[in-house]
Parts: sequence; C-alpha cells; structure tokens
Amino acid sequence: MTTDQIKVTINGKDFEVPKGARLIDVCREKGFDIPSFCYYSDLALQASCRMCLVRIEKMPKLQTSCTITCTDGMIVTTQSEEIEKAQRGMTEFLLANHPLDCPVCDRGGECELQEMTFDWGGLEERFTERKNYHAERYLSPMVANDPQRCILCKRCTRVCDEWMGEDAIEAGGRGAHTVIGTYLGWLDCSQCGNCIEVCPTGTLLDATYRHQTRPWELAQNITTCNFCSDGCQMSLGSRGGEVRRSVARDRYVNGINGEFLCVKGRFGHPFINHDARIRTPMIRYKKGGKLIPATWDDAIRHVAERLDAIANENGRNSIGVVGSPRLTNEALHVLHRFATELVGTENYTTTELLSLQSFFKHLGGQIATHRDIRYAKTIVQIGGDPSELQPLTGKQMRQAVRNGGATLVLVNSVPIRLREQAKIFLHVRPGTEDAIVLALADAANDSLAAQKAGVDASALDAARQAITNTAGDVVVMFGHELSAEAQAIVAQFPQTFAADGRRILLHPLPFFNNSIGAHDLGMMDQPLSPRQILDKAGAEIRALYLAGSFLPEHLEGREDALSKLDFLVVQELFENEVTAAADVVLPAASYAEQDGTFTNNDGFVQRVRQSIPPLHQSKPDWVIVAQLAQELGLDFGYAMSASAVFREIGEKVPAYSGMRYPLLKDETNPVQAKYTVVGPTDLSSEVAAIRDRVQSLPDTGEKVTVTPEVGTELFRLGGLTDKVAQFHLLANGNPRPDTTAVSPLYQITTADERKLAQIEN
Ligand code: SF4
Ligand code: SF4
Ligand code: SF4
Ligand code: FES
Repeated sequence: MTTDQIKVTINGKDFEVPKGARLIDVCREKGFDIPSFCYYSDLALQASCRMCLVRIEKMPKLQTSCTITCTDGMIVTTQSEEIEKAQRGMTEFLLANHPLDCPVCDRGGECELQEMTFDWGGLEERFTERKNYHAERYLSPMVANDPQRCILCKRCTRVCDEWMGEDAIEAGGRGAHTVIGTYLGWLDCSQCGNCIEVCPTGTLLDATYRHQTRPWELAQNITTCNFCSDGCQMSLGSRGGEVRRSVARDRYVNGINGEFLCVKGRFGHPFINHDARIRTPMIRYKKGGKLIPATWDDAIRHVAERLDAIANENGRNSIGVVGSPRLTNEALHVLHRFATELVGTENYTTTELLSLQSFFKHLGGQIATHRDIRYAKTIVQIGGDPSELQPLTGKQMRQAVRNGGATLVLVNSVPIRLREQAKIFLHVRPGTEDAIVLALADAANDSLAAQKAGVDASALDAARQAITNTAGDVVVMFGHELSAEAQAIVAQFPQTFAADGRRILLHPLPFFNNSIGAHDLGMMDQPLSPRQILDKAGAEIRALYLAGSFLPEHLEGREDALSKLDFLVVQELFENEVTAAADVVLPAASYAEQDGTFTNNDGFVQRVRQSIPPLHQSKPDWVIVAQLAQELGLDFGYAMSASAVFREIGEKVPAYSGMRYPLLKDETNPVQAKYTVVGPTDLSSEVAAIRDRVQSLPDTGEKVTVTPEVGTELFRLGGLTDKVAQFHLLANGNPRPDTTAVSPLYQITTADERKLAQIEN
C-alpha cells in the first residue's frame, strides 16, 4: 500500500485515508460500525455473507464494503433504511437453518450472530420449513462441533489454511446442506483451536471447556502465555479460584497475536489447578529419608541455616543458584540479587537451552517484532522450527509469504513444514548451519560451505542476493543450532547488509516464555551452562538453590549429580525427578497466581497478571527468595509488591530503564526493551573459529529427509503439558475414537478404567 492520501466522504464527513485502503477497515477506523461475518482482517477475502453493505454514490446497487478499495472522492453511506433492510434480510437467511439454541450454546453471550440479532431487535423469521439437523460431534479431543449453527463464513477454513498452513477443515456438501467438516472425519492437525476462536457462532467449540460455565460468569484476566518465547497475549477465564479456559478473543484482549493461540496456549492451562500441585513446603531431614510437610517458617529457617553453614565451611562459590527461564523477570531479578549480593557466588545460571550472550554482545540492529515479520519483504530463517517451537512466529512467516508475498530463505538440516513456503531452501547436513552463516556473510566462503553442508554454491549466492536485492525489511531469525560465534556474525548482519531503503532486523528463537528476560536480568552473565553447574555438583558446589528444575536434557549423563550435593533446595509446582533428590521442596505459584512480566522474542516486556489466588500454600518465586534473603539478614525492601521489584528493575537494568507497570498496561502497544545496538565489531576471531570447525567437518554425510509430523515438538509431554489429559491423547497419535458423538477423552478414560478394573479383578 502506498502512503499517498486520498479523500473519502463517509456519512457526510470528509476524511483523508491512505490510497488503496479497504473501505470496511476505513469505516470502522473512523467510528462507523459495519456488520460483517465473513470478513476477517488479514485473511483472504470471502465476500459471502453480504452483511457489510454500504451505498456508494454513482454505483448502481449496494456494495460489499469488504471488497471495495477506497478511491479519491468516494462518497459512502453506511447507515440507511435501505441498508438495514438488506442486512436484516441477510440475517433472516442466516437464521433460516440456525437452531436458535443460545441458552445451551457455549458461545451464548459472546456470539457475533446473537449480538447482531439482538442489536437490531424485532427480527422477522418467516421461514416455517423444518430446519436442517446435524448431530453434535467431536472433531478432535480439543474441538467440538455443532454443525447446524454454521453460517458458512469460512473464517475457520481460512485461518486453518493461511495461519496454520494445515488446511485441515473444509466445507463439504452443497447449498443449504453445506457443512464444515474434516478430511476422513477426524482432525489430524496441530489442534491450535484458532478455528474455534474465529468462529463467530457456536459451531466450533472448545471441547475441553464444554458446558462448564457461561462466559459472563468468568473473571477475564489479560496475561502472557507461559509456554514459548513468542509471548502471546491471552485472557484467562477463571471462576471460583479455578482457571477454566484461555482465549485470545478480541473482545477481551488485543495483543501481538490478535486472536491467535497455539495448542499449548489455548489448551495447556489445566496444569494450573491440577491435583498434583505441591501443597506445602517439605523438608527431608536426613538423606534417604522422606519429604515431611513443614510450615513456611520452618522451611525458610532450615534452608537459611543450611546454606549459611555450607557457605561458611566451603566458601561462597560452594552455593550454586539456578533459575528457570520460565520465571518472571521479577523472580529472576530477585534471584540474581540473591546470588550476587547475598550469597556472593559466581556459580549461578539458568536452565536455558540456548545462550544468546554472544548475540546480544554483538547486536548490530533492531530486534524484529512479530509485526515486522508479517510485513517483511524477505525472511531468512537459519535452523529452528517455529511452527513447532514458536508457533506465532511460524504463523507470521506463513502470512508474510502467503498474504504479503515475502521471500522466505530457509536454511535447515530438516525439511520442516515451513519449507513449503520457502522460495530458497538450503537443505544442509546436520551441524553445518554455522558454515552457511559464514558464507552468507562473505562469498569467499561459499565453496567451503557448499562442500560441507552439501548444497550448491549457486544456492548460497541466491540466498545472499535475496537479502541484497530486497527493498524494505529483511528479518533474519535463527534457532539453537547456531554456535556463539555464528550468533555474533548474524547479530552483525545489520552492519553487513543494511543499505538505503533496506533494514535488517533480527529475531532469535529461544525456547521459553522468558528466555530473553533471563538474559536481560543478568542470570546468564556467567559463562556457565546448567550442565557445567551439574558437573561441579559435589565438588566446588556443595549446595544448590533451584527455582524451577533442570530439564531431562541437562541431566542426561549426569543422573547422579544431584545426589552428590550436600544440600538441594527446589522451588517447584510439581514433584519430579529433581524434587526427588531435594532436601527441601518449596511450593511455587504458577504464572496465573502472580503479578509480573515476561520478555518475549520481540524484546517486548509484557505483563503477567494474577488471575486466581496462589493455590494451597504456594507463593510466587520472587516472594520465596525475598523471604529467604530476609532470614539470611538482607531485606530487599519490596514489601510483598511485585510492582516494587519491577520498579527496581526499571532503575537498575539499562534495557528496562524507566519501565513501570502502568506503562505496560496496554497490550495493544507493547513496550520493547532498549537493547544496546553496537556498530561494526571485530569478528575475525569468530570467523576463524568457525572456519576451523567447518574445515574439520566431513565432506559427505546423510541428510534428514523426513519432514517431522505435526506435533513432533508441540505435543511432546513436558512437566506442564503432561498434566493435561488431552495432551496425552495427542502425544499418542491422536487416535480416532469409536464414535465422535462422545468426548474422546471420556471414551478413552472409561476404556482405561474398564481395563484397570479387569486387571484389578
Ligand atoms: S485446530 Fe487449528 S489446525 Fe486444526 S482445524 Fe482448527 S485451525 Fe486448523
Ligand atoms: S464453523 Fe464457524 S467459522 Fe467456520 S464457517 Fe461455520 S460459522 Fe464460520
Ligand atoms: S505461540 Fe507460544 S506464546 Fe503463543 S500461545 Fe503458543 S506457546 Fe503460547
Ligand atoms: S463481510 Fe463483506 S461480504 Fe461478508
């Protein structure tokens, strides 16, 4: 779209609008309500509901405003008797087969069809014929379907295709008998539930929340997702201290993700109120003994005494402090102060899987936001698999290509699904991604990189040209495959490739909801990985204070490390293999039970808001650490206020300077951390290190040729998702149950119970 302005007149008022703007958007932006069902911003046009009618001077009939592009001098009327009559007629048609069962429909109270019908009032219904009838059914463990409520707007099929690249649902049948359905009768897809979210009626429904509450009974709380680093904004609906559902519905929240959520964000919340949550502090008084429930006072005193004694005997570095990149910024900040100011240890880090220290040190340009990705002209993705690991980023990439015509250059050792959108796919041998970075930065390395990675040198040249020929934004993103040296080179791409009219923006793809915050808050300042901390267990490190847990990847090959410690304290939500080795276990509150912030892979610092009171005796991680610090003689002075902790972050952390909670309250305008952007840095040692490594790689080697199935990472059971029954079905291949009339979860659970009963008899 150009930035030229043209003049349009709407309902007698003159406006300057950008040339090429869509009329329905312009009218709404200027405050004129236009009803619509099939139009959905940033999706391909459907133009089938005919609700968005307007009168345009010099045009013979009423026009659908969703299909009209504004032209200079256009005179538009959005409200008149003629227009309302036509719209009422269309609604009457839509209701001809609609069951009008709002009192038993989960969408009742937040249904666009219901609202429109109520808004006008006195709608006639002259159809007396028998309505079409379709039985309710389940399309998957996550998606329930009441086909007769469908108004065929096809928002669901378009989001599935354009956002998700899955095309898992489609309209079948003809005329009045058309229904939305699945291929082979069962949804074998990523189960994002975006089709549910965008459905304007109660046709597609959240099967995990069905018939639980009416929407007006829920307290809606806007917060940030606690799974991946994309940081989607969501509304947690709770009632009676229990989180019942998670939506991104635009009536409640309008963040970076619009109405998008992935399967984890939408359906992963039942861990919050799960029965297995740790209820009280517990102390194991002697090694090999049992964890015994204790009061908070006793537990904190016990931890303080033991840490004090061990530090006095073995020195400050004998205490290790490790935090999870899932913690809030507030918790990480307090933990950092605890480690550095109170304990004074150099042995602190986070349980992160991708250190971005080198990237931030050499950062030569701006961090790309999700909006930048959507409107980029060229996207270069090196390693990673956003569709599975950062699904919002994956959706933005697909839309950039499909709806925006962007060029995608994909460098990956796995033919991931996003290769379908790629114009250039450099299918490299595993472990050779660094070589490609080297070649992209300097053509002199093309033949070496081509030889080791198993690609054509001409493809490398084409990839480089895709960047240098771009007028507009180029977004370069990278996954965990890149070494620290390669990250430094990528971080300098803005210096290497920027030119007049071309911006190079960078987008790292770490794994966790607060991976970026963990870097910003200093918990990764020490060049120590979690595995190195574990290697020191029982030697230099005698006691470990863990907020969160080590991941199985960290413990692999080091299974006995925790048992070598004199003292292990763990703050956790659930008991696991790490708490099994702990001397003290402290119940931590989930993200839904506390205030705070997470920083996403856009660098946006976004609010986490308390939806329900902390469960049982749990407390926010930062509160636990602050109380322990007080017991050890240092009062941080936060007086139980998360906003006081954040105010201190705003004072002490340069990238967050001046930030306060009130400045972050509007999720439509997220605030980006102010990272230090450096000029050209000397990369000769990094280049030499990569060249040495690449030269030692073999010239031959197998490539991965199989595209991973949808859900390979998304459905993998983790410490939180394994508390959600439906995820177990997905992780086990999403089996189609005997009948789709009854919840698959119910069928499989009862079948299991039957099996269990047989075994017990
Ligand atoms: S759940 Fe997501 S992927 Fe599956 S049909 Fe709906 S929109 Fe498509
Ligand atoms: S199921 Fe919902 S979103 Fe899909 S066509 Fe029907 S009414 Fe529209
Ligand atoms: S894309 Fe990431 S942040 Fe968004 S809902 Fe999914 S897991 Fe949460
Ligand atoms: S919104 Fe324009 S035709 Fe449906």
